[in-house]
Amino acid sequence: MIVPLPDLESLRVLGDWVALRLQPGDAVLLSGPLGAGKTALARAILRRLSGDAALEVPSPSFTLVQSYETRLGWVHHFDLWRLEGPQAVEELGWDELAQDIVLVEWPDRLGALRPAGALDIALGMLPGGARQAVLNGWESR
Ligand SMILES: Nc1ncnc2c1ncn2[C@@H]1O[C@H](COP(=O)(O)OP(=O)(O)OP(=O)(O)O)[C@@H](O)[C@H]1O
Ligand SMILES: [Mg+2]
Repeated sequence: MIVPLPDLESLRVLGDWVALRLQPGDAVLLSGPLGAGKTALARAILRRLSGDAALEVPSPSFTLVQSYETRLGWVHHFDLWRLEGPQAVEELGWDELAQDIVLVEWPDRLGALRPAGALDIALGMLPGGARQAVLNGWESR
């Protein structure tokens, strides 16, 4: 499924769509180039799940993972940009945290840790500054 994302409002609607279908244990993989909107989409999902439209969701690019308590339990928001590969991801506590919901920026770092059954959202930037998302997974939801 391809979703046009002309503005932040459309990203919020996509975030709501994902949040409505999320279940404990799920993984959402957010890929795409620098500035494509990965953090902004994670923010929209977390705001919907927490019921707080003003929830602070900073980019986890320095902390690597930020955790939030939501109506579906814990949600862990990762930014793996600075990590080299699966071993570094495991050292972050991946095996345990992935029992909860995980939202992952730069999921290519996961290698073999990439969860089966994940929702894969590839954000792309179009000429002129608009974006789009290509969704794969969750076909039955
Ligand atoms: N669909 C959109 N329409 C307009 N602005 C957007 C859209 N998506 C993201 N932005 C804006 O683009 C900027 C970068 O977004 P964001 O930080 O979410 O990107 P990112 O993919 O997480 O980048 P990084 O790779 O650095 O983590 C932010 O200012 C955000 O508000
Ligand atoms: Mg980001």
